[in-house]
Amino acid sequence: MCGIVGFTGSAPAAGILLDGLKRLEYRGYDSSGMALNRPEGLLCLRAVGKVCKLAEKVAAAPEELRRSCCGIAHTRWATHGAPLERNAHPHLDQSRRFAIVHNGIIENYQALRKRLTEKGCEFSSDTDSEVLAHLIAETYRGDLLAAVAAALKQVSGTYGLAVTTSLEPGRIVVARRGSPLVIGLGDGENYVASDVAALIAHTRQVIYLTDGEVASVTPEHVEIRDLDNLPVEREATGIDWDVSQAEKGEYPHFMLKEIFEQPDALANTIRGRLDFEMGTSILNGMNLSPRDLAAIPRIVIAGCGTSMHAGMVGEYYFEDIAGIPTRVEQAAEFRYRNPIIEPNTMVIPISQSGETADTLAAVREAAAKGALVTAICNVVGSTIARESGRGVYLHAGPEIGVASTKAFSCQVAVLLMMALLLGRNRRLSRTEGLALAEEIAKLPELVRQVLDRADSIRDIARRFAQYDNFFYIGRGCLHPTALEGALKLKEISYVHAEGYHAAELKHGPISLLDERHPVLALANDIPGKDKIIGNIQECIARRAPVLAVANPGDAGVRDLGCDVIEVPRSSRFIAPIPTAVALQLFAYYVAAERGCEIDQPRNLAKSVTVE
Ligand code: AGP
Repeated sequence: MCGIVGFTGSAPAAGILLDGLKRLEYRGYDSSGMALNRPEGLLCLRAVGKVCKLAEKVAAAPEELRRSCCGIAHTRWATHGAPLERNAHPHLDQSRRFAIVHNGIIENYQALRKRLTEKGCEFSSDTDSEVLAHLIAETYRGDLLAAVAAALKQVSGTYGLAVTTSLEPGRIVVARRGSPLVIGLGDGENYVASDVAALIAHTRQVIYLTDGEVASVTPEHVEIRDLDNLPVEREATGIDWDVSQAEKGEYPHFMLKEIFEQPDALANTIRGRLDFEMGTSILNGMNLSPRDLAAIPRIVIAGCGTSMHAGMVGEYYFEDIAGIPTRVEQAAEFRYRNPIIEPNTMVIPISQSGETADTLAAVREAAAKGALVTAICNVVGSTIARESGRGVYLHAGPEIGVASTKAFSCQVAVLLMMALLLGRNRRLSRTEGLALAEEIAKLPELVRQVLDRADSIRDIARRFAQYDNFFYIGRGCLHPTALEGALKLKEISYVHAEGYHAAELKHGPISLLDERHPVLALANDIPGKDKIIGNIQECIARRAPVLAVANPGDAGVRDLGCDVIEVPRSSRFIAPIPTAVALQLFAYYVAAERGCEIDQPRNLAKSVTVE
């Protein structure tokens, strides 16, 4: 996620801004920048890579420039536009009198950019954010607060925003809708940031902006208004966090933070991509016309680990919803097996990091055979994204915990939207498409309901943390979900967990079952549940402890006498996502109970950039 820091007071701003950016580094980013406000004009410095690169530029700037006591700064996690210096924030209007730093996604930026360009505005970046600088310059009539409010009324999408202008030295205006923004209160100085971590070293008195609010911040004064310029009264909040703790917010681990970020991450993945008029998806990044889509005879999905598991769920989607023959390949296998790629075969590499060596090699093999390579990545501008040339970004924000959580949910959501698009390009009716689009739109709320049950999942996990072996079993889309759940438990708690198709147990694995070998069965109320019930009974008959995932009030499962984790009822296509979230929480709490190092498990790396 991008980071925002701002300062206005009587001390030099540059060092304070750099310190704030460093405290936001944990969020993941690919470039940074700052704008220092002086009566003679704005000094804007930007750098690709780590914050230390920006610090070098600040140190090289003339001393009098660095004496500015007001400025804004940013770490960028690229969403629109590759991680290049020209796309780093701050962005300036062409008079270079207005500077902005922005978190979020401006959904109507293309229309705004077109209008502003036709008016003569010259854009210097590929980002959505830059339109804000030009809009504010356009609406400015002598009051920055009013100008920002007027500009934001033209904007759809999300923003956490900080703005400064050389026409009003010492003043910063901030605003938020859908992306956090906090004001830190000092003595003769004030701060702004996207995250308490950036300012907690200077103050513990903060004011949280809420959506639709705009605030003016000077060294002596903070004024909050709504977009209609009506004043808003807001009490300051005292922060009781220690600065080191603030980097994860209130979470003990990044993994738990990212599990709980999933409603917002899914909302970002889905935002602007469902067409409720036509009952289809809007995935412009695929750059494929309806005719191109209709010509696709087959799909091959390639990935590793969690991304491969997401692809295995996608296989069901593409075949059931779009009627397209689909297979999933472990990316390393794909690259070496001399795969058969017919003209117009679509190959979908899935990779959160966009840097996994085997998946990148699969991209190159597919491209060499003339496939339509369409990537699903989270990191914008990553190698796999760039070399694929087309695809769909997750917009899930950086995933720092080694165990992938929100990426899985968002990958599955993207695959479902791709299947909806391809389905409506074939035999899926508008009515069927609309129903599916409405289900997809409800995913953030569905996941929120799972997260609300975290305490009960923790209590169950504590009881199962004693076991050193597990089977996870599921059917249909819940088979790959079982594989993913087992992987989560394996990689962070070091428990030997294996995922199996439920029907596979009696073909061998069941020989291992006894009272020391629990089975986690995915018994959601979807087709095949009655068979899972039978599998559960087979396990109980062999004295294996059983933990079932089931929908609320499912007596058929509860009557079996096993432990139950409840997840909200949904269709078979939707079930993998809330179920996976429950399994992520289960794995997390087992690992916590076993005292494991959760964010950096032994032997693992976040991105496997080697074969
Ligand atoms: C998932 O929890 C693991 N960290 C690992 O399996 C991961 O999914 C795999 O290495 C693929 O990474 P990618 O999505 O960045 O390509």
